[in-house]
Amino acid sequence: MTEWVALREDDGRAYLVKRIPGEVKVKGLGRFDAEKLLEGFSVGDRIKVGQKSLSIVDAGLPEARRNMSRRAQVIGAKDSGFLVSWMGVGVGSKVLEGGHGSGGLAMHLATVMGTSGTLISVESRSEHAEVGKKNMDKLREVLPEFPDWRLIEGDLSEVGPEVSEICDSLDAAIIDIAEPWNVMAEIGPLVRTGGRMACYCPTSAQLEKSWNKCEELGMVVEWCGEVIERRWSKASKGGVRPGNQPMGHTAFLLISAKVAEEGQE
Ligand SMILES: C[S@@+](CC[C@H](N)C(=O)[O-])C[C@H]1O[C@@H](n2cnc3c(N)ncnc32)[C@H](O)[C@@H]1O
Repeated sequence: MTEWVALREDDGRAYLVKRIPGEVKVKGLGRFDAEKLLEGFSVGDRIKVGQKSLSIVDAGLPEARRNMSRRAQVIGAKDSGFLVSWMGVGVGSKVLEGGHGSGGLAMHLATVMGTSGTLISVESRSEHAEVGKKNMDKLREVLPEFPDWRLIEGDLSEVGPEVSEICDSLDAAIIDIAEPWNVMAEIGPLVRTGGRMACYCPTSAQLEKSWNKCEELGMVVEWCGEVIERRWSKASKGGVRPGNQPMGHTAFLLISAKVAEEGQE
């Protein structure tokens, strides 16, 4: 049984706490001995810590993400969820993602892959890999199931042989670096026929170059565009309406599929 719980404020802010003896410092809550603090309390109870009134809940992806360390820009729920669904990532999938950065996307992927999944993350900057690993190591402790996760500290343009040693072929590869087209010729061949390769492109220039590269590699673009999120809120004088703060642009997504080579029929 996981020793982690989340202490949740009513507005959704949450603090991850490990139920073990010894004083710890939890950012936003202060210093305390978690085991003593939680003595006599169970998941589902309400507890007071300092001035804060908190619900004790099982920790999952949303709570882990609210507590994650960030260095590079992360892919959020809006785009991660879309990629997971469109690329068919699930229990037992074999997936590569890079650059790993702070592990934002990798955390979403790991949550749905189960222990039979294999997730390979690639990151060229050691200081980013360190932050991503810290976030993933914590998530591993929090989730009931976690894939076989491998972190390769290296360049996506050179990872082919190392990836092939881990698994024969990939079901999905997601590339989130400034110049995806420079690594797609290395990553594309690792994807099985019927598998998918996606690029996360903040600008239209990146999107166009990646699209052209996909076609050059014989891959078929299945979905291209951006996911727009518009939240609603409760108006003070009654009614519900779109909020005043629209979610700005994040990135264009390009999802391509690998098809069988011509001339084999
Ligand atoms: C925007 S961040 C990735 C964020 C990550 N996908 C997330 O959701 O948290 C881009 C990362 O790619 C790494 N990177 C850039 N070029 C790379 C390459 N050729 N191979 C591996 N990593 C690379 C950068 O160091 C950086 O950490």
